[in-house]
Amino acid sequence: MSVAVIAGMQWGDEGKGKVVDLLAEDADIVARYQGGHNAGHTIYCDGKQYVLHLIPSGIFHEGKICVIGNGVVIDPKALLEEMGQLEKAGIEFQSRLLISDRANIILPYHCSSDVSRECDGKYQKIGTTGRGIGPSYADKIARLGIRTCDLRDENRLLKLVRDNYDEKKAIIQKLFGGELQDFDVIFSGLQDTRKIILGLLTDTHTFLRQQIADKKNVLCEGAQGTMLDVDHGTYPFVTSSNSTSGGACTGLGIPPTQIDRVSGVIKAYTTRVGEGPFPTELFDESGETLRKEGHEFGATTGRPRRCGWFDGVVARYAVHLNGIESAALTKVDVLDTFKVLKVCTAYEYKGKMYEEMPADLEILENCKPVYTEFEGWMESTVGINKFEALPEKAKLYIEGLKKIIGADFLMISTGPKREQTICKEGLF
Ligand code: GDP
Ligand code: IMO
Ligand code: MG
Repeated sequence: MSVAVIAGMQWGDEGKGKVVDLLAEDADIVARYQGGHNAGHTIYCDGKQYVLHLIPSGIFHEGKICVIGNGVVIDPKALLEEMGQLEKAGIEFQSRLLISDRANIILPYHCSSDVSRECDGKYQKIGTTGRGIGPSYADKIARLGIRTCDLRDENRLLKLVRDNYDEKKAIIQKLFGGELQDFDVIFSGLQDTRKIILGLLTDTHTFLRQQIADKKNVLCEGAQGTMLDVDHGTYPFVTSSNSTSGGACTGLGIPPTQIDRVSGVIKAYTTRVGEGPFPTELFDESGETLRKEGHEFGATTGRPRRCGWFDGVVARYAVHLNGIESAALTKVDVLDTFKVLKVCTAYEYKGKMYEEMPADLEILENCKPVYTEFEGWMESTVGINKFEALPEKAKLYIEGLKKIIGADFLMISTGPKREQTICKEGLF
């Protein structure tokens, strides 16, 4: 039996969906620990592409149990839409999808608040996904949130939503000049989704505890990435939850003493969506090539992703913060056409070298990345599934990354499909 955590190591979109789907083969349970439908996890299964937002990336494996943990914020409407897509695709999931009865829910006023604040112009724009994630986590921390267990008692739910609605409406209209749907529309929308969700509610902490006692393999799935973690990322340009591995303990109710292994997912270059500092960002043709070859457009919002060279400072920080010994390296094939590849090993700011991640955004925004150069391999690696078959220069690049980040790679991905992967070791 084993409990393993998988976390994103950059600014999200590292290919967690593909990697978790592959690793789920050896797991009994896949449990998502934080975030909401701001996430977009792309998976290829039987020649079809799926994008998951809330449902764990193990759902395409028959018989695997998928848990949405207490640390996730759930928009009931978004969840039902996602369930509808799976139903349409003929994927059976009802008997193996469990939702924590302690998760907070997202209601339309959270989205209105998120969007109207972002659009106002007076406030710092984060470039959020507009899914109501920040306002919903803010309610959770302010102890105003509505939890999935509150869906059980209709009268209590009505009072909770009413109280919240009145407060939110005043803020949205008076402060941001935004609009909000009528209360009756919001509440009847919730009524429509409530009954379906009620059937899936579970005390998931107790369930997971029993499964761990029964020696089952549990794979804890994080969304977003280390640099979007609310405590450790490029605050305030982050999401509102703990995407680093520690979030698995609080977001699932699994004690730290029961986590056996932590791994991460990292791209062979860097991307980010939304605002905020990005030291290795490229504004030239190389950046365009990464975006084009890597199809770097958001899986949730469709926004073009900002692209840049591999950032070793970010990667080392992620290795240390998450406790990673070996990670999955993705999208190596996207670098196939580059003559020269650069990897950042430190930041230089006002004559001082930074090898550790500085907290100060002033430094991150204005530093100069210090680069090491690698020769590009200039041949296709698409679909290669044996390390020996990689071009020598690709091997040198990968070995170079290993040294710079101080961790090994358990998996190297050379395309979006399951079989386009070099699997060096399992997790369990
Ligand atoms: P996630 O949010 O971390 O799950 O990642 P996304 O699904 O948002 O973005 C990763 C994108 O890269 C998706 O379109 C994947 O299908 C794709 N992808 C994953 N691994 C590879 C790879 O090794 N090579 C290529 N070319 N694409 C990949
Ligand atoms: P996955 O799981 C990439 C970014 C948004 C924005 C910031 C805050 O697919 O890797 P939010 O809506 O969370 O309040 O937005 O975080 N962001 C992501 N970027 N991948 C994600 O998820 C993201 N989820 C949020 O673009 O900059
Ligand atoms: Mg994504």
